[in-house]
Amino acid sequence: MSKKILVITGSPRKKGNSFAMTEAFVNAAQAMGHSVKRFDAAMMKLGGCHACETCYKTGKACSFDDDFNIIAPEILEADAIVFSMPVYWYSIPSQIKAVIDRIYSLVVGGKDISGKECALIACCEENDLTVLDGVRIPMERTAALNKWKMVGEVLVPGVLNIGDINNTDGCARAAALAEKI
Ligand SMILES: Cc1cc2nc3c(=O)[nH]c(=O)nc-3n(C[C@H](O)[C@H](O)[C@H](O)COP(=O)(O)O)c2cc1C
Repeated sequence: MSKKILVITGSPRKKGNSFAMTEAFVNAAQAMGHSVKRFDAAMMKLGGCHACETCYKTGKACSFDDDFNIIAPEILEADAIVFSMPVYWYSIPSQIKAVIDRIYSLVVGGKDISGKECALIACCEENDLTVLDGVRIPMERTAALNKWKMVGEVLVPGVLNIGDINNTDGCARAAALAEKI
């Protein structure tokens, strides 16, 4: 069945490791007949949540009208959401964290975002899978709270420089992730 897949990335490196995996995933998903929309959060104008709780009061998801209001309708529409990012300081990069925080507006606004599928693509420098916990655990808990089904995770430690991902099976695993959606 063809699904609407929303991909949100968090790296500012267009030729970086997580982007390479993202592209492998997107190509595989499109080849399977899914429709894919992608937002690269690091190249967008996005601030954090102001916790003003005026979500949807202006007609848009967020009263602070930046590029999140372009992403929000796509979150509502999506059957599956794939988050792709590097680890920054044992955590989620601020570029994509702004998007994740502002999913709050959909919840406060009373939108039904339950029942979606979710997946995670992530990488880090240190050759230690537990370094990815700082991304994996919050994303798993976010998915659970939103009643999203985490269908797959591609977690690749040990990649630092652009191109390092090619010395791993990360892109092949990212392509295979498309089969889980
Ligand atoms: C600001 C910053 C913080 C980072 N923090 C960590 C870290 O805590 N642990 C780690 O293993 N790698 C860390 N890294 C390395 C990146 O996770 C690694 O280079 C990754 O492959 C980058 O992915 P990208 O090419 O998709 O941007 C950091 C990189 C930057 C730029």
